[in-house]
Amino acid sequence: MKVEENVSLKPFHTFGMEVSARYFAEGHSRSDIFDFVTNDFPAMQLPLLLLGGGSNLLFTQAYEGCALKISTKGIEVIDDQHPYKLVKAEAGENWETFVEYCVAQGLCGLENLSFIPGNVGSSPIQNIGAYGVEIKDCFHSLEAMEIKSGIITTFSNEECQFGYRSSIFKTTHKGQYIILSVTFRLSEQTSLNTSYGAIATELSNAGITAPGVADVAAAVTRIRRSKLPDPIDIGNAGSFFKNPTVSAFEYYRIADEFRTLVAFNQNNGYYKLAAGWLIEQCGWKGFRKGDAGVHAHQALILVNYGNATGREILELANDIIASVENKFGVRLEPEVNIL
Ligand code: FAD
Ligand code: EPU
Repeated sequence: MKVEENVSLKPFHTFGMEVSARYFAEGHSRSDIFDFVTNDFPAMQLPLLLLGGGSNLLFTQAYEGCALKISTKGIEVIDDQHPYKLVKAEAGENWETFVEYCVAQGLCGLENLSFIPGNVGSSPIQNIGAYGVEIKDCFHSLEAMEIKSGIITTFSNEECQFGYRSSIFKTTHKGQYIILSVTFRLSEQTSLNTSYGAIATELSNAGITAPGVADVAAAVTRIRRSKLPDPIDIGNAGSFFKNPTVSAFEYYRIADEFRTLVAFNQNNGYYKLAAGWLIEQCGWKGFRKGDAGVHAHQALILVNYGNATGREILELANDIIASVENKFGVRLEPEVNIL
């Protein structure tokens, strides 16, 4: 496999900083990836960074290892168990292309996850979620290659131990596997989740009373386009922090003092706080220092207006963490992978 030296990663991540990788390779097939893992990579004795669409990464320095971009393609229906179909996609498929394929087949399950950047292979890493749905809700299984042996193993939904923005690939199995494909169990029957307020409002504004799967996908896409900065115009990696989960006791302590606190009861003794609200209350919304800033319409998104460095974004993130902790006694955790 071709391994290049000193390659700019600017085109390969959505924050858009100029940063280089000491080595860079691109896997277009499973055999490319197997060759890399068993031949090129062990000889290098350097760290490995897997790259999908680069939409959940912040580079704070040049990457002194090898970046392997996963670019394998293919989508197929592998089983038809009416009313469910198992649809499998290779890791390098673009997530939105895959969702569009499923929606066009009239298959339900992924429509609320329309228009999320990135690739299929990265979707299980943090169990991507939006508008009341996470991939765990219709994830069937994935195939992954162990980096040290090249052996391919299948992981079931349960084995992935999905949680809010989490899976074993961010915890116990971090850095050990390359996800090769992901299979979803999607329904041919229309069973839509329009419980998230913004979707219901968007459908009603469009005069749609009996929505189909394509209507929900289109509504979610419109909402996202109106709220989130497009990385083509303004560098960003989506929500920079996770929404913090606190005990009911903590929730009441904060809500007693701050009456407009935005929080969601998890019905298990815990509440999820809207990190965007916490950050906005600390006065950060729309903040800009040089080219590093906090998005003017969504305080949870840190942005690069052009020439910010990863370190400047990280400094801003740390200042935000400190001020939120100081005001509310809650510590924000980054969602973005910081390198
Ligand atoms: P990358 O950023 O390339 O990689 C992410 C992590 O996965 C890295 O640690 C990487 O090494 C690892 N990785 C990549 N490919 C593989 C592989 N094949 N095998 C093993 N490890 C791998 N996320 C949400 O959950 N919900 C949202 O609503 C959402 N909205 C967003 C909106 C915007 C505008 C942006 C920029 C981002 C948003 N995100 C959202 C975050 C991001 O899109 C997701 O985390 C996405 O799954 C990242 O995919 P990627 O291919 O870009 O991953
Ligand atoms: N809010 C504010 N000020 C802000 C932003 C938000 O007060 O500047 C409050 C509002 O009250 C709003 C609430 O926070 O009602 C929730 O905001 P929003 O609906 O925009 O969602 P979010 O919690 O900020 C989460 C995910 C997003 C996902 C959306 C939609 C996390 C960390 N983020 O954001 O995912 O798209 O919900 O479901 O869970 C991502 O992970 O990168 C991402 C973009």
